[in-house]
Parts: sequence; structure tokens; C-alpha cells
Amino acid sequence: MTKRLLGGMTPRRFLREYWQKKPLLVRQAIPGFNGIVSRDQAFELACGFDAESRQVWHDAQGWQLRHGPFKPKDFRRRGPWTVLIQGLNLLDDAADALLHRFDFVPWARLDDLMVSYATDGGGVGPHFDSYDVFLIQGMGRRRWQISAQRELDIIEGAPLRILKRFDVEEEWVLEPGDMLYLPPSYAHNGIAEGECMTYSVGFRAPADQELATQFLVHLQDRVELDGRYADPELTQPRHPGEIGKDMIEKVARSIGRIAWNRDAVRDFVGCYMTEPKAHVYFDPPDRPMGKTAFAKKISRRGVRLDRRSQLLFSGGRFYLNGEIVDIANGDRELLRELADKRRLPPDTRFSESAQSLIHGWYCDGFVEAGEG
Ligand code: SIN
Ligand code: CO
Repeated sequence: MTKRLLGGMTPRRFLREYWQKKPLLVRQAIPGFNGIVSRDQAFELACGFDAESRQVWHDAQGWQLRHGPFKPKDFRRRGPWTVLIQGLNLLDDAADALLHRFDFVPWARLDDLMVSYATDGGGVGPHFDSYDVFLIQGMGRRRWQISAQRELDIIEGAPLRILKRFDVEEEWVLEPGDMLYLPPSYAHNGIAEGECMTYSVGFRAPADQELATQFLVHLQDRVELDGRYADPELTQPRHPGEIGKDMIEKVARSIGRIAWNRDAVRDFVGCYMTEPKAHVYFDPPDRPMGKTAFAKKISRRGVRLDRRSQLLFSGGRFYLNGEIVDIANGDRELLRELADKRRLPPDTRFSESAQSLIHGWYCDGFVEAGEG
């Protein structure tokens, strides 16, 4: 199935030749695909508080951007415009399933599935993204223009990132089920030909600065230094207002004792990569089943991660939704399977400890019974 998605190529070849390197157009990557949500469902989502949405259009004053939630009247605007809804995978199971078809890339690198609706001529203008993207055409047709140009200056003061210059090198009209892969920083412009909807599989590539800042935040809760500032050798200073060299030296020695190793980095990456996005809330069951009833149900029907849950592992360490979880040695293989496949099939055998753990996750709304 993945081979078809990649135009008959093995994931291995795609990763070696295209990933982060050059664009790939795949006609009929998903045969029969006509989208996941209808135009009206997309509008409804963009009017709600659960979705991050934006509306973009171009007028005499230039490019315009508004953030949702929107009112239905916002979608009665004339002329070319587009509305984009981020994180569709968090709201819809079919969208989550589409996102997770991209399993030739680690889950930790996947970001989200975005959907856009555009009226004839609508789009977000020529731009580049800092991340890889697979653009999958849903309903209607969209013309994609791309350029390998090195000059990526953007119009200053515009509310969205629009390239000052865009030299079209190649272009195609994508039909439902067609897909275009673009590596990071590849200039592109999508123009709707009639009404259309496009799905974008986006990836996570945190900036080094973001990683450093977040690592320090992570470390801050874990640093444990004993001792306290002391200066039994103190002599009367010439300038009481001065911070002496001695004091700097002592503080440098204290701070120099802050240390971390690969395990600390592993735990940071695990917590950081599984941390739910800011607007994500889980729905714990109103009247949760008891442990025994739940254990029976999942043995019979299987269990799956909620679409908002992220379970990752590294070696014997497991991370779920921003937290480190301790997993008994004997349960690790099973939990690795749950992390990889995001579900466990009916007739899976669960140990006592796995039952307790998964029941706790069910009570928090992180997993649900059934394969889905
Ligand atoms: C769109 O769907 O209109 C925008 C997608 C993109 O250019 O990244
Ligand atoms: Co883009």
C-alpha cells in the first residue's frame, strides 16, 4: 500500500532519493480518494473552538489573513479565498488514519494533517515551508507551481509569508488522489481550479533554539544540586558594591555541576515529542468501566490509542502524552507493538500489570477499547 502511495517506489528508495532532497509527483497515490470531510464539514470545524483555522485572501491592499473561529457568513465572501484547518487528525479518525499511512517516517517526525478549502483561484500565495509536506488532492483540482529557486526573500510586513519573487519552473494540475511531495524550503504555489480541497501531511522539525530552550525547561525540574553558597575565607572588600571574582568563581563551580547524559536527553526527547499540543484535551469516560470488565473487553476486542495520544519508546523507556511511563520488563514488547501500530488486535493476551496500566490510560481518555 505504501508503494502505491509513493508511486510504485519502496519507502527505502523514496527516503534515499527524495526525502528532504527533491520533489515527487505521484499520480493516483490514493486511487478513489476524494477527501475526508465535505466543504460544509470543513466550514463547521473552522467555526468551532477545537480547530486552529485561518482564512486567506488577496485584495487591493495585498494578502490578508484572519484567524478562526469563524462565523458562517465569513464563508460567503466573493472572489478567490481559502480556509485552512490545522490538526484535522486530532478531530477525525479517518484523518488520523490517513496521517498514519506515512509510517515510513517515525511517528515523532509527523506533525499533523491540514485540510484547505479554496474557491476558484484561491490559495495562500507563493511561499516555502520549513518542513517537508505531502500535498494530497481531495475534491476538485489544484494547479501546483514549484521552483527550486535559492532566493527565498519574503515580502516584509505581509500578514503571511509570501515570496517577493517566484520563478515557476514546473507546474501540474492535481486531480483527486494525486499527491505532490515537497522537501523543506522548496518554493511553491497552489491555485484552485474551481472549488477544491487539499490535504497536507506536515512534519515536525524543531529549530535547534527551540530544542535548547525546551531542554533547559525539562532540565529545570530535574536538576538537584546540594550545597549552598559559603565563604568562610571572606576578607573585607575594598568596594562593597563590587561582585568579586571570587563570587563569580564559586557560582561558576556550582552551575558547572549541572550535568546530563544521553538518558536525560532521551527522556527529554520522549516527553517533548509526545507532549500534546496546547489546545488538545482528552475526553475521559464519564462512567469508566472497572478494571476487570475493561480487561475482558480489550482481550476480546483489542485496544487502540486515542487519536490525540502519542505513545513513543526508546530502548526500554516509554513516553505517553508528555510523561515518562514505567513499563514492566515483560510488558515492553506488547507496548512497543501498541506504540508502532497504535492498536492491539482482539485476542491479545495482557498481563496483570499491562491490564492495570492500560486501564489507567483508559480512565484518562488516552486509549479506548476496540480496534477502531
Ligand atoms: C493549501 O492547502 O492551500 C496550502 C498548502 C501549502 O502550500 O503548504
Ligand atoms: Co506550503
